[in-house]
Amino acid sequence: HGLMRAAIRRQVRAGNQDARLLLDPAMQADPFPHYETLRPAYPFALGAFARLTVHHDVATAVLRSDDFGVTHPTQVVPAPAKAALALAGPPRNPGPIEPPSMLAVDAPDHPRYRKLVSRAFTAKRVAALRERTSTVAQELLDEMDRAARDSGDLTVDLVERYASLLPVTVISEMLGVPTSMRDQFLAWGDGAATSLDMGLTRRAHASMEQNLAALNDWMRGHLRRLRREPGDDLLSSLVGLVDDDGAGLSEQELVSTALLVLAAGFETTVNLIGNGTSQLFAHPEQRERLAAEPELWPTAIDEMLRFDPPVERTARRAKVDTEVAGTPVAAGDLVVTVLAAANRDPRVFTDPGAFDVGRANAKDHLAFSSGAHFCLGAQLARMEGEVALRALFERHPRLAAAGPSRRRPTRILRGYAELPVRLEPAV
Ligand code: HEM
Repeated sequence: HGLMRAAIRRQVRAGNQDARLLLDPAMQADPFPHYETLRPAYPFALGAFARLTVHHDVATAVLRSDDFGVTHPTQVVPAPAKAALALAGPPRNPGPIEPPSMLAVDAPDHPRYRKLVSRAFTAKRVAALRERTSTVAQELLDEMDRAARDSGDLTVDLVERYASLLPVTVISEMLGVPTSMRDQFLAWGDGAATSLDMGLTRRAHASMEQNLAALNDWMRGHLRRLRREPGDDLLSSLVGLVDDDGAGLSEQELVSTALLVLAAGFETTVNLIGNGTSQLFAHPEQRERLAAEPELWPTAIDEMLRFDPPVERTARRAKVDTEVAGTPVAAGDLVVTVLAAANRDPRVFTDPGAFDVGRANAKDHLAFSSGAHFCLGAQLARMEGEVALRALFERHPRLAAAGPSRRRPTRILRGYAELPVRLEPAV
Protein backbone atom coordinates (compact mmCIF):
# COMPACT_ATOMS: atom_id res chain seq x y z
CA HIS A 1 0.00 0.00 0.00
CA GLY A 2 2.89 2.30 0.75
CA LEU A 3 4.11 1.56 -2.76
CA MET A 4 0.73 2.28 -4.24
CA ARG A 5 0.42 5.62 -2.47
CA ALA A 6 3.95 6.47 -3.46
CA ALA A 7 3.05 5.66 -7.08
CA ILE A 8 -0.01 7.91 -6.96
CA ARG A 9 2.04 10.68 -5.30
CA ARG A 10 4.61 10.38 -8.10
CA GLN A 11 1.77 10.83 -10.55
CA VAL A 12 0.58 13.89 -8.64
CA ARG A 13 4.06 15.39 -8.93
CA ALA A 14 4.16 14.47 -12.62
CA GLY A 15 1.00 16.50 -13.07
CA ASN A 16 -1.48 13.66 -13.58
CA GLN A 17 -4.72 15.56 -13.06
CA ASP A 18 -6.75 12.50 -12.07
CA ALA A 19 -4.30 11.65 -9.33
CA ARG A 20 -4.33 15.26 -8.13
CA LEU A 21 -8.10 15.16 -8.06
CA LEU A 22 -7.98 12.15 -5.77
CA LEU A 23 -5.22 13.03 -3.37
CA ASP A 24 -3.96 16.58 -3.51
CA PRO A 25 -5.04 18.43 -0.32
CA ALA A 26 -4.88 21.76 -2.15
CA MET A 27 -7.45 20.38 -4.56
CA GLN A 28 -9.68 19.40 -1.68
CA ALA A 29 -9.80 22.93 -0.32
CA ASP A 30 -10.60 24.49 -3.69
CA PRO A 31 -11.09 22.18 -6.68
CA PHE A 32 -12.90 24.82 -8.74
CA PRO A 33 -9.96 26.40 -10.57
CA HIS A 34 -8.90 22.94 -11.71
CA TYR A 35 -12.37 22.15 -13.00
CA GLU A 36 -12.35 25.41 -14.96
CA THR A 37 -9.20 24.26 -16.78
CA LEU A 38 -11.29 21.30 -18.01
CA ARG A 39 -14.16 23.51 -19.25
CA PRO A 40 -12.95 23.64 -22.91
CA ALA A 41 -13.00 19.81 -23.11
CA TYR A 42 -16.47 18.94 -24.39
CA PRO A 43 -18.23 16.65 -23.72
CA PHE A 44 -15.50 14.94 -21.69
CA ALA A 45 -12.02 15.46 -20.41
CA LEU A 46 -10.10 12.24 -20.84
CA GLY A 47 -8.17 11.19 -17.77
CA ALA A 48 -6.07 8.17 -17.02
CA PHE A 49 -8.81 6.49 -15.00
CA ALA A 50 -12.04 7.73 -16.54
CA ARG A 51 -13.82 10.26 -18.67
CA LEU A 52 -14.83 13.24 -16.64
CA THR A 53 -17.40 15.89 -17.41
CA VAL A 54 -17.78 19.36 -15.94
CA HIS A 55 -20.74 20.24 -18.19
CA HIS A 56 -24.29 20.53 -16.91
CA ASP A 57 -25.99 19.18 -20.06
CA VAL A 58 -23.56 16.26 -20.42
CA ALA A 59 -23.79 15.28 -16.75
CA THR A 60 -27.58 15.47 -16.90
CA ALA A 61 -27.70 13.35 -20.07
CA VAL A 62 -25.47 10.66 -18.56
CA LEU A 63 -27.31 10.59 -15.21
CA ARG A 64 -30.67 10.27 -16.99
CA SER A 65 -29.62 7.74 -19.61
CA ASP A 66 -30.77 4.12 -19.49
CA ASP A 67 -27.55 3.23 -21.32
CA PHE A 68 -25.61 3.99 -18.14
CA GLY A 69 -25.76 2.20 -14.81
CA VAL A 70 -24.57 2.99 -11.31
CA THR A 71 -21.16 1.99 -10.09
CA HIS A 72 -19.95 1.51 -6.57
CA PRO A 73 -16.61 2.19 -4.93
CA THR A 74 -15.03 -1.20 -5.42
CA GLN A 75 -15.75 -0.85 -9.13
CA VAL A 76 -14.51 2.69 -9.44
CA VAL A 77 -11.08 2.29 -7.86
CA PRO A 78 -8.16 2.62 -10.24
CA ALA A 79 -6.07 -0.47 -10.94
CA PRO A 80 -3.34 -0.08 -8.28
CA ALA A 81 -5.91 0.67 -5.61
CA LYS A 82 -7.94 -2.31 -6.77
CA ALA A 83 -4.93 -4.50 -6.15
CA ALA A 84 -4.69 -3.01 -2.66
CA LEU A 85 -8.36 -3.70 -2.04
CA ALA A 86 -7.97 -7.25 -3.25
CA LEU A 87 -5.11 -7.68 -0.82
CA ALA A 88 -7.18 -6.37 2.02
CA GLY A 89 -10.18 -8.39 0.82
CA PRO A 90 -13.58 -7.10 -0.30
CA PRO A 91 -15.69 -5.62 2.51
CA ARG A 92 -17.50 -8.44 4.30
CA ASN A 93 -20.34 -6.16 5.29
CA PRO A 94 -21.84 -4.14 2.49
CA GLY A 95 -21.79 -0.43 3.25
CA PRO A 96 -24.68 1.92 2.60
CA ILE A 97 -23.37 2.56 -0.90
CA GLU A 98 -22.72 -0.99 -2.02
CA PRO A 99 -25.29 -3.45 -3.38
CA PRO A 100 -27.97 -4.16 -2.33
CA SER A 101 -28.27 -0.50 -1.33
CA MET A 102 -30.56 1.30 -3.79
CA LEU A 103 -27.78 3.78 -4.57
CA ALA A 104 -25.68 0.97 -6.05
CA VAL A 105 -28.21 -1.02 -8.10
CA ASP A 106 -30.08 -0.43 -11.37
CA ALA A 107 -33.56 -1.45 -12.45
CA PRO A 108 -35.34 -3.76 -11.78
CA ASP A 109 -34.14 -3.85 -8.14
CA HIS A 110 -33.72 -0.09 -7.85
CA PRO A 111 -37.38 1.00 -8.21
CA ARG A 112 -38.42 -1.88 -5.94
CA TYR A 113 -36.21 -0.68 -3.06
CA ARG A 114 -36.87 3.00 -3.65
CA LYS A 115 -40.65 2.66 -3.68
CA LEU A 116 -40.61 1.05 -0.25
CA VAL A 117 -39.20 4.13 1.44
CA SER A 118 -40.13 6.99 -0.89
CA ARG A 119 -43.51 7.58 0.73
CA ALA A 120 -41.76 8.84 3.86
CA PHE A 121 -39.94 11.60 1.94
CA THR A 122 -42.70 13.39 0.01
CA ALA A 123 -43.03 17.18 0.28
CA LYS A 124 -46.11 16.71 2.47
CA ARG A 125 -44.39 14.37 4.92
CA VAL A 126 -41.38 16.67 5.08
CA ALA A 127 -43.56 19.73 5.74
CA ALA A 128 -45.02 17.90 8.72
CA LEU A 129 -41.51 17.48 10.15
CA ARG A 130 -40.61 21.16 9.97
CA GLU A 131 -41.91 22.10 13.39
CA ARG A 132 -40.12 19.24 15.13
CA THR A 133 -36.90 20.09 13.24
CA SER A 134 -37.22 23.66 14.40
CA THR A 135 -37.59 22.51 18.03
CA VAL A 136 -34.47 20.33 17.67
CA ALA A 137 -32.57 23.30 16.23
CA GLN A 138 -33.60 25.60 19.11
CA GLU A 139 -32.65 22.96 21.70
CA LEU A 140 -29.23 22.46 20.12
CA LEU A 141 -28.67 26.22 20.02
CA ASP A 142 -29.69 26.45 23.71
CA GLU A 143 -27.17 23.73 24.58
CA MET A 144 -24.45 25.40 22.52
CA ASP A 145 -25.08 28.78 24.19
CA ARG A 146 -25.17 27.23 27.66
CA ALA A 147 -21.90 25.35 27.12
CA ALA A 148 -20.22 28.52 25.84
CA ARG A 149 -21.51 30.55 28.78
CA ASP A 150 -20.48 27.90 31.35
CA SER A 151 -16.97 27.58 29.95
CA GLY A 152 -16.59 31.32 29.42
CA ASP A 153 -15.36 30.59 25.90
CA LEU A 154 -17.58 31.95 23.15
CA THR A 155 -15.67 30.06 20.45
CA VAL A 156 -17.25 26.72 19.55
CA ASP A 157 -16.90 24.19 16.75
CA LEU A 158 -20.13 24.61 14.80
CA VAL A 159 -19.82 21.17 13.17
CA GLU A 160 -19.45 19.32 16.46
CA ARG A 161 -22.07 21.32 18.38
CA TYR A 162 -24.72 21.91 15.75
CA ALA A 163 -24.27 21.02 12.08
CA SER A 164 -23.61 17.32 12.70
CA LEU A 165 -26.22 16.90 15.46
CA LEU A 166 -29.34 18.27 13.81
CA PRO A 167 -29.53 15.90 10.80
CA VAL A 168 -28.68 12.77 12.79
CA THR A 169 -31.34 13.63 15.37
CA VAL A 170 -34.02 14.21 12.73
CA ILE A 171 -33.28 11.09 10.68
CA SER A 172 -33.00 8.94 13.83
CA GLU A 173 -36.44 10.05 14.96
CA MET A 174 -37.89 9.40 11.48
CA LEU A 175 -36.41 5.94 11.31
CA GLY A 176 -37.18 5.13 14.92
CA VAL A 177 -33.60 4.47 16.01
CA PRO A 178 -32.82 5.70 19.53
CA THR A 179 -31.36 9.23 19.57
CA SER A 180 -29.09 8.03 22.39
CA MET A 181 -27.20 6.27 19.59
CA ARG A 182 -26.43 9.51 17.74
CA ASP A 183 -22.80 9.93 18.87
CA GLN A 184 -22.12 6.29 18.09
CA PHE A 185 -23.66 6.65 14.61
CA LEU A 186 -21.59 9.73 13.92
CA ALA A 187 -18.42 7.90 14.96
CA TRP A 188 -19.24 4.81 12.87
CA GLY A 189 -20.31 7.04 9.98
CA ASP A 190 -17.04 8.95 10.09
CA GLY A 191 -15.11 5.70 10.01
CA ALA A 192 -17.16 4.33 7.13
CA ALA A 193 -17.32 7.53 5.03
CA THR A 194 -13.89 6.85 3.55
CA SER A 195 -15.48 3.90 1.75
CA LEU A 196 -16.51 6.43 -0.90
CA ASP A 197 -12.94 7.30 -1.69
CA MET A 198 -10.13 5.62 -3.53
CA GLY A 199 -6.62 4.54 -2.73
CA LEU A 200 -7.17 3.55 0.90
CA THR A 201 -4.24 2.37 2.95
CA ARG A 202 -4.47 -1.06 4.59
CA ARG A 203 -5.09 0.58 7.96
CA ALA A 204 -7.83 2.84 6.60
CA HIS A 205 -9.44 -0.14 4.88
CA ALA A 206 -9.41 -2.20 8.08
CA SER A 207 -10.90 0.64 10.05
CA MET A 208 -13.60 1.18 7.42
CA GLU A 209 -14.39 -2.56 7.60
CA GLN A 210 -14.77 -2.44 11.37
CA ASN A 211 -17.07 0.52 11.21
CA LEU A 212 -19.23 -1.02 8.49
CA ALA A 213 -19.42 -4.27 10.45
CA ALA A 214 -20.50 -2.39 13.57
CA LEU A 215 -23.19 -0.52 11.64
CA ASN A 216 -24.47 -3.71 10.00
CA ASP A 217 -24.52 -5.63 13.29
CA TRP A 218 -26.33 -2.88 15.13
CA MET A 219 -28.93 -2.47 12.40
CA ARG A 220 -29.50 -6.23 12.08
CA GLY A 221 -30.16 -6.45 15.83
CA HIS A 222 -32.38 -3.38 15.79
CA LEU A 223 -34.53 -4.72 12.95
CA ARG A 224 -34.95 -8.01 14.82
CA ARG A 225 -36.18 -6.08 17.85
CA LEU A 226 -38.64 -4.16 15.67
CA ARG A 227 -39.96 -7.39 14.19
CA ARG A 228 -40.93 -8.44 17.71
CA GLU A 229 -42.09 -5.02 18.88
CA PRO A 230 -42.87 -2.68 15.99
CA GLY A 231 -43.21 1.05 16.66
CA ASP A 232 -44.74 3.90 14.72
CA ASP A 233 -41.75 4.66 12.51
CA LEU A 234 -40.32 4.11 9.02
CA LEU A 235 -38.23 1.03 9.81
CA SER A 236 -41.09 -0.72 11.62
CA SER A 237 -43.20 -0.20 8.52
CA LEU A 238 -40.47 -1.83 6.40
CA VAL A 239 -40.06 -4.89 8.57
CA GLY A 240 -42.23 -7.68 7.25
CA LEU A 241 -43.40 -5.56 4.34
CA VAL A 242 -44.03 -7.36 1.08
CA ASP A 243 -43.63 -5.74 -2.33
CA ASP A 244 -45.97 -5.90 -5.33
CA ASP A 245 -44.84 -9.36 -6.32
CA GLY A 246 -45.54 -10.65 -2.83
CA ALA A 247 -41.86 -11.03 -2.04
CA GLY A 248 -40.48 -9.37 1.08
CA LEU A 249 -37.06 -7.80 1.33
CA SER A 250 -34.29 -10.17 2.33
CA GLU A 251 -32.58 -9.37 5.61
CA GLN A 252 -29.55 -7.84 3.85
CA GLU A 253 -31.79 -5.78 1.54
CA LEU A 254 -33.57 -4.45 4.58
CA VAL A 255 -30.34 -3.73 6.47
CA SER A 256 -28.79 -1.98 3.46
CA THR A 257 -31.88 0.13 2.80
CA ALA A 258 -32.03 1.18 6.45
CA LEU A 259 -28.30 1.96 6.59
CA LEU A 260 -28.40 3.99 3.39
CA VAL A 261 -31.28 6.14 4.55
CA LEU A 262 -29.65 6.61 7.95
CA ALA A 263 -26.21 7.47 6.59
CA ALA A 264 -27.49 9.59 3.69
CA GLY A 265 -29.58 11.38 6.28
CA PHE A 266 -26.64 12.47 8.41
CA GLU A 267 -23.51 12.46 6.21
CA THR A 268 -24.64 15.13 3.75
CA THR A 269 -26.88 17.74 5.38
CA VAL A 270 -24.08 18.41 7.87
CA ASN A 271 -22.03 19.61 4.89
CA LEU A 272 -24.84 21.85 3.66
CA ILE A 273 -25.03 23.55 7.07
CA GLY A 274 -21.23 23.92 7.34
CA ASN A 275 -20.62 24.97 3.72
CA GLY A 276 -23.59 27.36 3.83
CA THR A 277 -22.35 29.03 7.03
CA SER A 278 -18.93 29.41 5.50
CA GLN A 279 -20.40 31.03 2.34
CA LEU A 280 -22.38 33.51 4.43
CA PHE A 281 -19.18 34.41 6.33
CA ALA A 282 -17.37 34.92 3.03
CA HIS A 283 -20.13 37.08 1.54
CA PRO A 284 -21.30 39.58 4.18
CA GLU A 285 -23.39 41.55 1.69
CA GLN A 286 -25.38 38.40 0.86
CA ARG A 287 -25.82 37.74 4.56
CA GLU A 288 -27.23 41.25 5.05
CA ARG A 289 -29.56 40.76 2.15
CA LEU A 290 -30.92 37.55 3.72
CA ALA A 291 -31.43 39.25 7.05
CA ALA A 292 -33.40 42.01 5.32
CA GLU A 293 -35.32 39.65 3.00
CA PRO A 294 -35.85 36.39 4.89
CA GLU A 295 -38.26 35.18 2.17
CA LEU A 296 -35.09 34.54 0.14
CA TRP A 297 -33.99 31.68 2.44
CA PRO A 298 -35.26 28.82 0.21
CA THR A 299 -33.41 30.30 -2.80
CA ALA A 300 -30.33 30.89 -0.64
CA ILE A 301 -30.28 27.20 0.34
CA ASP A 302 -30.30 26.16 -3.33
CA GLU A 303 -27.57 28.69 -4.07
CA MET A 304 -25.46 27.15 -1.27
CA LEU A 305 -26.07 23.71 -2.76
CA ARG A 306 -25.05 25.01 -6.18
CA PHE A 307 -22.01 26.93 -5.06
CA ASP A 308 -20.39 24.42 -2.68
CA PRO A 309 -22.27 21.10 -2.92
CA PRO A 310 -22.04 18.46 -0.16
CA VAL A 311 -21.47 15.70 -2.74
CA GLU A 312 -18.77 16.78 -5.19
CA ARG A 313 -19.18 14.17 -7.88
CA THR A 314 -20.68 10.83 -8.80
CA ALA A 315 -20.08 8.36 -11.64
CA ARG A 316 -21.84 6.06 -14.08
CA ARG A 317 -20.66 3.15 -16.22
CA ALA A 318 -21.87 2.56 -19.78
CA LYS A 319 -23.88 -0.67 -19.94
CA VAL A 320 -23.83 -0.80 -23.75
CA ASP A 321 -21.92 0.87 -26.56
CA THR A 322 -23.54 4.28 -26.73
CA GLU A 323 -22.85 7.95 -27.41
CA VAL A 324 -23.05 11.18 -25.48
CA ALA A 325 -23.28 14.52 -27.27
CA GLY A 326 -22.12 12.79 -30.45
CA THR A 327 -19.09 11.18 -28.80
CA PRO A 328 -18.98 7.38 -28.67
CA VAL A 329 -18.66 5.69 -25.29
CA ALA A 330 -17.88 1.97 -25.15
CA ALA A 331 -19.69 -0.49 -22.90
CA GLY A 332 -17.85 -0.68 -19.60
CA ASP A 333 -16.44 2.85 -19.77
CA LEU A 334 -16.70 5.00 -16.69
CA VAL A 335 -17.91 8.60 -16.75
CA VAL A 336 -17.31 10.80 -13.71
CA THR A 337 -19.96 13.51 -13.50
CA VAL A 338 -18.56 16.39 -11.49
CA LEU A 339 -21.68 17.85 -9.90
CA ALA A 340 -19.73 20.69 -8.28
CA ALA A 341 -18.39 21.78 -11.68
CA ALA A 342 -21.69 21.32 -13.56
CA ASN A 343 -23.12 23.72 -10.98
CA ARG A 344 -20.77 26.38 -12.32
CA ASP A 345 -21.51 25.85 -16.00
CA PRO A 346 -21.64 29.35 -17.53
CA ARG A 347 -24.13 28.16 -20.15
CA VAL A 348 -26.67 27.57 -17.34
CA PHE A 349 -25.70 30.04 -14.61
CA THR A 350 -24.82 33.69 -15.34
CA ASP A 351 -21.64 34.71 -13.55
CA PRO A 352 -21.37 31.22 -12.02
CA GLY A 353 -18.54 32.12 -9.63
CA ALA A 354 -20.72 34.68 -7.84
CA PHE A 355 -22.63 33.62 -4.72
CA ASP A 356 -26.08 35.19 -5.09
CA VAL A 357 -28.83 34.35 -2.58
CA GLY A 358 -31.41 35.76 -4.99
CA ARG A 359 -30.30 33.81 -8.08
CA ALA A 360 -33.41 33.14 -10.16
CA ASN A 361 -32.43 29.67 -11.38
CA ALA A 362 -30.41 28.50 -8.35
CA LYS A 363 -32.63 25.40 -8.24
CA ASP A 364 -31.21 24.12 -11.55
CA HIS A 365 -28.09 22.83 -9.77
CA LEU A 366 -27.16 19.14 -9.84
CA ALA A 367 -26.22 18.86 -6.14
CA PHE A 368 -28.93 16.21 -5.72
CA SER A 369 -27.94 14.45 -8.98
CA SER A 370 -30.53 13.72 -11.66
CA GLY A 371 -32.49 10.83 -13.12
CA ALA A 372 -33.51 7.62 -11.36
CA HIS A 373 -31.18 8.15 -8.40
CA PHE A 374 -32.10 11.80 -7.78
CA CYS A 375 -31.68 12.31 -4.05
CA LEU A 376 -34.62 10.80 -2.20
CA GLY A 377 -34.01 13.14 0.72
CA ALA A 378 -33.80 16.39 -1.30
CA GLN A 379 -36.92 17.96 0.23
CA LEU A 380 -35.87 16.88 3.72
CA ALA A 381 -32.35 18.22 3.23
CA ARG A 382 -33.60 21.58 1.94
CA MET A 383 -36.00 21.91 4.86
CA GLU A 384 -33.34 20.93 7.44
CA GLY A 385 -30.78 23.28 5.91
CA GLU A 386 -33.18 26.20 5.91
CA VAL A 387 -34.45 25.60 9.44
CA ALA A 388 -30.93 25.06 10.81
CA LEU A 389 -29.22 28.02 9.14
CA ARG A 390 -32.05 30.46 9.65
CA ALA A 391 -32.33 29.60 13.36
CA LEU A 392 -28.56 29.93 13.76
CA PHE A 393 -28.23 33.32 12.04
CA GLU A 394 -31.37 34.74 13.60
CA ARG A 395 -30.23 33.82 17.08
CA HIS A 396 -26.65 35.00 16.44
CA PRO A 397 -26.81 37.86 13.95
CA ARG A 398 -23.17 38.69 14.70
CA LEU A 399 -21.88 35.11 14.39
CA ALA A 400 -18.29 35.22 13.13
CA ALA A 401 -15.66 32.81 11.86
CA ALA A 402 -13.07 32.13 14.58
CA GLY A 403 -9.79 30.74 13.43
CA PRO A 404 -8.82 28.12 10.89
CA SER A 405 -11.43 25.63 9.74
CA ARG A 406 -10.64 22.13 8.52
CA ARG A 407 -12.21 20.30 5.59
CA ARG A 408 -13.32 16.66 5.96
CA PRO A 409 -10.64 14.32 4.63
CA THR A 410 -13.11 12.72 2.20
CA ARG A 411 -12.97 13.60 -1.49
CA ILE A 412 -16.53 12.84 -2.61
CA LEU A 413 -18.35 14.13 0.45
CA ARG A 414 -17.46 17.80 0.55
CA GLY A 415 -17.74 19.61 3.86
CA TYR A 416 -16.07 20.74 7.04
CA ALA A 417 -14.74 18.51 9.79
CA GLU A 418 -14.27 21.56 11.98
CA LEU A 419 -15.66 25.08 11.66
CA PRO A 420 -14.84 27.29 14.66
CA VAL A 421 -17.27 30.17 15.18
CA ARG A 422 -17.62 32.92 17.77
CA LEU A 423 -21.03 33.34 19.36
CA GLU A 424 -20.89 37.13 19.57
CA PRO A 425 -23.69 38.31 21.85
CA ALA A 426 -26.30 40.45 20.13
CA VAL A 427 -25.79 44.16 20.80
C1 HEM B 1 -29.02 10.01 -3.34
C2 HEM B 1 -27.05 14.34 -2.41
C3 HEM B 1 -29.42 14.56 1.81
C4 HEM B 1 -31.20 10.17 1.02
C5 HEM B 1 -28.29 11.17 -3.45
C6 HEM B 1 -27.47 11.52 -4.59
C7 HEM B 1 -26.91 12.73 -4.32
C8 HEM B 1 -27.38 13.15 -3.02
C9 HEM B 1 -25.94 13.53 -5.20
C10 HEM B 1 -27.35 10.69 -5.86
C11 HEM B 1 -25.98 10.13 -6.13
C12 HEM B 1 -25.90 9.57 -7.52
O1 HEM B 1 -26.68 9.92 -8.43
O2 HEM B 1 -25.01 8.72 -7.75
C13 HEM B 1 -27.55 14.77 -1.20
C14 HEM B 1 -27.26 16.07 -0.61
C15 HEM B 1 -27.92 16.12 0.59
C16 HEM B 1 -28.63 14.86 0.73
C17 HEM B 1 -26.38 17.12 -1.25
C18 HEM B 1 -27.97 17.20 1.62
C19 HEM B 1 -27.81 18.45 1.41
C20 HEM B 1 -30.14 13.41 1.96
C21 HEM B 1 -31.01 13.12 3.07
C22 HEM B 1 -31.50 11.90 2.86
C23 HEM B 1 -30.95 11.39 1.59
C24 HEM B 1 -31.30 14.05 4.24
C25 HEM B 1 -32.47 11.25 3.80
C26 HEM B 1 -32.73 10.15 4.02
C27 HEM B 1 -30.74 9.75 -0.20
C28 HEM B 1 -31.03 8.43 -0.76
C29 HEM B 1 -30.40 8.38 -2.02
C30 HEM B 1 -29.74 9.67 -2.20
C31 HEM B 1 -31.86 7.34 -0.11
C32 HEM B 1 -30.40 7.23 -3.01
C33 HEM B 1 -31.48 7.43 -4.02
C34 HEM B 1 -31.46 6.38 -5.11
O3 HEM B 1 -30.45 5.71 -5.32
O4 HEM B 1 -32.51 6.23 -5.74
N1 HEM B 1 -28.23 12.18 -2.51
N2 HEM B 1 -28.37 14.08 -0.36
N3 HEM B 1 -30.13 12.35 1.08
N4 HEM B 1 -29.97 10.46 -1.09
FE1 HEM B 1 -29.27 12.32 -0.78
